[in-house]
Amino acid sequence: MARLSAAFRVVGIGGNRDNEVGGRFSGRKRRRLVDYDELYAEVKDIFGADPESTLEPFVDRLNPGSTVLDIGAGQGRNTRLLAERGLTVHALEPSGVAAAMLKGLAEKRQLKLEVFATTFERFEPPVESYAGILVFGLIPDLEWAAIHRLLEKIDLWSEAGTILWITGFTTRDPSYASQKAGWSTVGPNSYRSPEGRMRTYLEPKQILELFERYSALHHWEGLGPEHRHGDSPPERHSMFEVVLLR
Ligand SMILES: C[S@@+](CC[C@H](N)C(=O)[O-])C[C@H]1O[C@@H](n2cnc3c(N)ncnc32)[C@H](O)[C@@H]1O
Repeated sequence: MARLSAAFRVVGIGGNRDNEVGGRFSGRKRRRLVDYDELYAEVKDIFGADPESTLEPFVDRLNPGSTVLDIGAGQGRNTRLLAERGLTVHALEPSGVAAAMLKGLAEKRQLKLEVFATTFERFEPPVESYAGILVFGLIPDLEWAAIHRLLEKIDLWSEAGTILWITGFTTRDPSYASQKAGWSTVGPNSYRSPEGRMRTYLEPKQILELFERYSALHHWEGLGPEHRHGDSPPERHSMFEVVLLR
């Protein structure tokens, strides 16, 4: 399938930024993940202001009044699009800084947006299932045990007809070789930096194997556009993007 849009967008932190983040954080307290609080407080729209290009083309498949879950919603670029379309959005975001931004957005625009400042591991949904689930850019931050927990949760929180949007990085990513060489290996294609930062890459098409019970409405893999995170050096990622139907 072709990529849906060549529009500028950013889906994760990696590539050249790895060095910058490692450098900025080295010598400070050990962090399990990227310090998103710090990044979100410092940089507006760190993953870009626009929603992921795969989101809009499939939104109309969701019935009006549906409830959608955005897992790792960040600063809300995808949540915002859905809530502005009148959908109810449950935004899961463990960064207190980003969760406060999302709450501000909900209040200012009077959106049907409920913010849960927690992880998917701890989240207990107030509904039986979701019509749509977004997992943009989260998989690269997780180790395999967490990815498998995430898959279980997605199974629990979805039903026949649920649409899933997912993006992540593949082993063809320009950063892959340097992280494989310089970081600790913690699983297949999964590495941890000395500061505790995770990066997990999927093999080409592996995302489809992980979701073999779903059908692909859209699947694209390739080199994404050059982009920057704030004033970081330009970078590009080899990505997968899927829109799946349960
Ligand atoms: C690469 S960012 C992507 C943000 C957003 N989805 C976007 O595309 O703009 C990953 C986000 O996942 C969040 N996150 C990390 N671990 C998480 C977890 N266990 N449960 C839920 N969210 C998590 C981070 O705080 C961060 O905001």
